[in-house]
Amino acid sequence: MSQQHILTAVAWPYANGPRHIGHVSGFGVPSDIFSRYQRMAGNKVLMVSGTDEHGTPIQVQADKEGLTARELADRYNRVIAEDLTALGLSYDLFTRTTTLNHYAVAQEIFLGLYKNGYIFPKTTMGAISPSTARTLPDRYIEGTCPICGYDGARGDQCDNCGNQLDPIDLINPVSRINGETPIFVETEHFMLDLPAFAEVLATYLQGKQGDWRPNVLKFALNLLGDIQPRAISRDLDWGVPIPLDGWRDRGDKRLYVWFDAVIGYLSASIEWARRSGDPEAWRNWWQNPDARGYYFMGKDNIVFHAEIWPAMLLGYNGQGAKNGTAGSLGRLDLPSEVVSSEFLTMEGRKFSSSRQVVIYVRDFLERYDADSLRYYIAVAGPETQDTDFTWSEYLNRNNGELVAAWGNLVNRSISMAAKNFGRVPEARDLTDADRALLDRSRAAFPAVGAELGRSRFKNAVTEAFEVVRDANRYLAEQEPWKIKDDPERQGSILHVALQVVDDAKTLLTPFLPQSSNKVYTMLGGEGVWSGMPEIQEVDEEGGSSYPIITGDYRDNARWEHRPIKAGIPLAPPVRLFTKLDPKIVDEELARLGDA
Ligand code: MF3
Ligand code: ZN
Repeated sequence: MSQQHILTAVAWPYANGPRHIGHVSGFGVPSDIFSRYQRMAGNKVLMVSGTDEHGTPIQVQADKEGLTARELADRYNRVIAEDLTALGLSYDLFTRTTTLNHYAVAQEIFLGLYKNGYIFPKTTMGAISPSTARTLPDRYIEGTCPICGYDGARGDQCDNCGNQLDPIDLINPVSRINGETPIFVETEHFMLDLPAFAEVLATYLQGKQGDWRPNVLKFALNLLGDIQPRAISRDLDWGVPIPLDGWRDRGDKRLYVWFDAVIGYLSASIEWARRSGDPEAWRNWWQNPDARGYYFMGKDNIVFHAEIWPAMLLGYNGQGAKNGTAGSLGRLDLPSEVVSSEFLTMEGRKFSSSRQVVIYVRDFLERYDADSLRYYIAVAGPETQDTDFTWSEYLNRNNGELVAAWGNLVNRSISMAAKNFGRVPEARDLTDADRALLDRSRAAFPAVGAELGRSRFKNAVTEAFEVVRDANRYLAEQEPWKIKDDPERQGSILHVALQVVDDAKTLLTPFLPQSSNKVYTMLGGEGVWSGMPEIQEVDEEGGSSYPIITGDYRDNARWEHRPIKAGIPLAPPVRLFTKLDPKIVDEELARLGDA
């Protein structure tokens, strides 16, 4: 297998509150399944992200909690880092956007675009709240979309037709904070000249036909129909300063949060390289025709990853209609794929923290296992269509698929072999049924791997589970527990079963890393099978200390069938999954806010 550099770029969660399972079903679990598989397949993965800590989402929540923006970001950066670690998400670096490094890289990208003529100043009309005299952020203004007529459009974007908007274009604009009608005054901003990229973006996106998920590509292509210059600065004091004379020191103008956040993929790669001791190493993922970059997110992020970020990279490279030359970092690669999922709802309703239609990752993991949530998201998550999470489906899948099918297969194979042989028995004189199961399990590696490589997680986990089902069927037919006077045959059956348990634990590792690690150890494996992330406290020269997620993923997990060795000692198995009491469904429903 040839080694490839794979950048897994995971959307940056806002540090304005704890994340719920809807969030992690969009960006978190899918990106980790993908990265774990790619590492097992022998590729060099760099998985980066961090908390998104600027802009109005942070400022507005800080005002609510009576904190400064910085204090709020510090608080939730830590909460989020801990929760993502507990879910087992194997980031090489999960950092934050308030580092000195991020500021420097964001400003460098701005300057590169500016020098090439893709950023220009413009006097626009900005919204002010008449009662407070403060600037009203675009997304806090609501009104009717001038393009499609949808009456819940926001000042920055219409969620119905996907078009980007200016608040002043909204019909009947009102403040979402207090319902008043904003007044508009002149203010100066910097604009990104998106129309200068219309042609290159069209060529870029059309080249992705048949490769990207159809919904994602269709949405992205559709955006090109109405491509407009877009403001990339804001009237705000919290964010990355604008790196130009006369602007740098102004307290009231900052880069737009989305402009700096998408640059995080690059700045985090650079930070990772520095921390790993080879400051130039990031170039292997960003300036390499053989590298591939996969971006994971929920669908409300598509415009920023399939249109704006590629445009920013093209402009920095000097590849738009105005040409230009690459900035001092050199030419940077565009995303190979924008892997977006759709939305998750909760018991038929939209997630809502204020109405308590929510379950936070932390609360979930206090009561249930990380692997069981990961499994649910893989098999029943919003991969290509909006999907509803229900507690009863969660219970059924946990008890039926993880506990009764997989957990039970592991448990009875190992305990029977441990009890009767104390070790992995030898296989002699294989029958057709034995061979059929072994062949089938081996054949699953290329089949499931192909699905994982294309981010078709639902297909992948379903096919891997077919192996588990076939193994259970095989045991039911062979009935090794009934064999009293033929230890050889009984040993052969259990050998075959243990081999398939070993294969299945490998096939399931991207989805269920913690339980696969347990199976590995029970079958005599030494060292770490699949590496787990950890939090480290770090600092920067001149900066403050902060937690990062990182990990050593140079583990033993490989995407291949490995023959198990007869004679390996076996102890009675440990439990893999927890059977849930059906009454948790009503308990959890009672915790949700009323409809
Ligand atoms: N913070 C954004 C959200 O939660 C996602 C940012 S992804 C980025 O929707 F990397 F582009 F910033
Ligand atoms: Zn619209």
